[in-house]
Amino acid sequence: MRDGQITAQDVGIAYRLYREKVSTLKEAVANRFRHLRGAETFWALRHVSLEVAPGEALALVGHNGSGKSTLLKTIAGVLQPSEGALATQGRLSPMIELGAGFDPELSGHDNVFLNGALLGFTRKQMESKFDRIVAFAFLFVSHSFEAARELCPRAAVLHHGRLAFDGAVDGAWARYRELARGPVPGPAIEA
Ligand SMILES: Nc1ncnc2c1ncn2[C@@H]1O[C@H](COP(=O)(O)OP(=O)(O)O)[C@@H](O)[C@H]1O
Ligand SMILES: [Mg+2]
Repeated sequence: MRDGQITAQDVGIAYRLYREKVSTLKEAVANRFRHLRGAETFWALRHVSLEVAPGEALALVGHNGSGKSTLLKTIAGVLQPSEGALATQGRLSPMIELGAGFDPELSGHDNVFLNGALLGFTRKQMESKFDRIVAFAFLFVSHSFEAARELCPRAAVLHHGRLAFDGAVDGAWARYRELARGPVPGPAIEA
């Protein structure tokens, strides 16, 4: 594998769901065996195959609960695939939930440096990147879909844990709208 490559082959992430609501320890003990029987498998992601080349940017688009965070967590190595295989090569810096690592007490400038330090960049490295980071953040927050189009020519659409589209960003947008049917809110985009 080359540095920066991501390969997902038929990746599935299963969660065990328990129907019984347990609020006390006594109930938990009493329900212990029913509890095991009642577990259901929920596939948050299933049969997801995609390949991202070094230097390539891919936007993930999909309704809430479609599996975007689950896929990102799997790529980051936070979750292990329940089936299939996921391989990455090189340094990975997950920044999954937007705002994670941001301190509201600090200025925007200091937050950029704080996050840079958390990702392992030196102050000098961050100084050389600062203007580009600010330009990127401004672009992304102000026109997220337009920015996604500009930054990521390629987009993958997730729908109920399945890969519903993988290709040019305009095609992804059309597919997303088609799947959403009816009045659509803006797409949830994770990068
Ligand atoms: N720890 C968990 N246990 C059970 N189900 C989960 C868990 N985490 C996420 N899910 C479910 O997996 C699906 C995908 O979630 P997620 O990846 O967070 O979607 P998205 O980021 O696209 O909104 C959702 O149905 C969500 O409720
Ligand atoms: Mg999410």
